[in-house]
Amino acid sequence: MAGLELKSLHKSYGDVPVIKGVDLTVEHGEFVVFVGPSGCGKSTLLRMIAGLEDITGGELWIGDKLCNAVEPRDRGIAMVFQNYALYPHMTVYDNIGFGLKLARTPKDIRDSKIREAARILQMEHLLERKPGQLSGGQRQRVAIGRAIVRKPEVFLFDEPLSNLDAALRVDTRMEISKLHQDLGATMIYVTHDQIEAMTLADKIVVLNGGVVQQVGAPIELYQRPANLFVAGFIGSPKMNFMAVTVDNVAANAVTVSGKDLSPVSIPADVTGLTLGDTVTLGIRPHALTIPTTGSVVGRINLVERLGNETIVNLGLTSGISWLAVLDGDHNLATGQTLQLAFDPTSAVIFDGEGRARHPA
Ligand SMILES: Nc1ncnc2c1ncn2[C@@H]1O[C@H](COP(=O)(O)OP(=O)(O)OP(=O)(O)O)[C@@H](O)[C@H]1O
Ligand SMILES: [Mg+2]
Repeated sequence: MAGLELKSLHKSYGDVPVIKGVDLTVEHGEFVVFVGPSGCGKSTLLRMIAGLEDITGGELWIGDKLCNAVEPRDRGIAMVFQNYALYPHMTVYDNIGFGLKLARTPKDIRDSKIREAARILQMEHLLERKPGQLSGGQRQRVAIGRAIVRKPEVFLFDEPLSNLDAALRVDTRMEISKLHQDLGATMIYVTHDQIEAMTLADKIVVLNGGVVQQVGAPIELYQRPANLFVAGFIGSPKMNFMAVTVDNVAANAVTVSGKDLSPVSIPADVTGLTLGDTVTLGIRPHALTIPTTGSVVGRINLVERLGNETIVNLGLTSGISWLAVLDGDHNLATGQTLQLAFDPTSAVIFDGEGRARHPA
């Protein structure tokens, strides 16, 4: 097994920078997920690790080897793409073994590796079929099988599940997680699906505009996002935000208020904050409740009663709307005025630069 070390990695296409200095450590056997909006550089970064894109600047270490100039096939990695790229005229057996055949692996060794991969992926009964006779999920497993037989040190996945329907995606996601446990290999996985990121990752890397925004365990990113971008990106539905004014600064808390918010004291790192500052208050939809008296008041735009929970879109006078996901059923109607409350310890203050001010 091998870990990776990315040191100030840069990539430009012509004079357009796409990856702008990425530093990252990936431990042996770790499952690391890259997330971020479309075009932020996830695939580019993965392809730089694979050796499919030149590195403009910085260093890429795989294990104890500097790999900037190492050929893709000598990096000990295997990559699985969103499009399975199987050979339609070959059987599953031959598709899985194709790379080994090219490498002139003896037939008996090839056979045992193919059967081992098929066993791990539970597709021994499909070996004689052609790709056209397989479901999308089965085809993706063949593509993964092709990676497994190469016994790579590092697996790279670029949105491998995005062509699958929702149910199959859940199943295949679990298979990939099990594969990681069984093989103990290092895996780097690109997705823009939050649930995949939260459930698969030991460590999530949030990218935006070719810059790493935060690296951490999924729960850490959810509970202590570093900035407005990560706070808005991780978690579904998205965190609610509101511009508020600082009314009072205490040792470990600020009192804030706004057009739709009565004054409330929020625990925060207050360094450099002063009276009258405009900051952003963030609160997750699941942290809002219906109290007897609440600090946020608005008018209901929309109610979705799902039985186990009630989702409310609340229009505020400042023109923004907030989402609340309330436990249980609530008989609420559009147009009604509603007060919502939240536990101040679940709220986050972001300063003028968008940095989260979590209390120590
Ligand atoms: N060959 C290329 N020449 C010029 N620009 C490119 C090239 N390939 C990618 N880019 C640009 O680099 C940026 C990053 O692209 P990349 O494919 O890494 O994004 P991504 O995060 O994987 O997005 P998605 O979620 O849509 O797959 C984009 O702005 C893209 O337009
Ligand atoms: Mg991509």
